Amino acid sequence: MSEGDLVDLVRAEQEKPAWTAAQFAEELYHRYGWQLVACIRDPYQFAGYICCRSVAGEAEILKLAVTEDFRGQGVGNLLLGKAIARMVEEKVTRCYLEVRDSNQIAKSLYEKFGFRQIGHRKGYYTSPREDAIVYKLSLAKC
Ligand SMILES: CC(C)(COP(=O)(O)OP(=O)(O)OC[C@H]1O[C@@H](n2cnc3c(N)ncnc32)[C@H](O)[C@@H]1OP(=O)(O)O)[C@@H](O)C(=O)NCCC(=O)NCCS
Repeated sequence: MSEGDLVDLVRAEQEKPAWTAAQFAEELYHRYGWQLVACIRDPYQFAGYICCRSVAGEAEILKLAVTEDFRGQGVGNLLLGKAIARMVEEKVTRCYLEVRDSNQIAKSLYEKFGFRQIGHRKGYYTSPREDAIVYKLSLAKC
């Protein structure tokens, strides 16, 4: 991910309140942040992204989104799989994320990769107000 992706990132942003270009740019330069973009090269089409942070063996997935045109075609699988592979390379042993309780598609994706529900944050999200489910993925030490 680079500054050249900012327009596509803001367009693809799904959360409410939505991240602005400035927030994405800040994440690009975050000390522990790293991101991946999925795209088709010729002609260029932006398909999705994942934003993560990792430090001291612990990772967090801050954002994952696939553009509407590319959903249901394996892009989410690809992004999450690549991100987890990088965490393994970095010797991350645990990864956390939060998801809206009603987001069955994302929950099914995360559970397929071995994430387990470890917590419930009541009323965590706004617009609309909704609980968050906290997920954890335990990664074996290699
Ligand atoms: C969640 C999201 C990233 C999934 O991306 P995607 O590219 O459509 O997903 P994929 O095609 O790679 O499918 C991955 C898995 O997601 C689940 N999934 C995808 N589409 C689904 C659907 N229509 N119904 C139920 N589960 C579905 C399945 O578990 C699927 O695994 P499978 O292919 O083995 O069945 C995408 O729907 C999205 O961007 N949603 C809006 C943003 C969002 O909710 N982000 C997560 C916030 S935490």
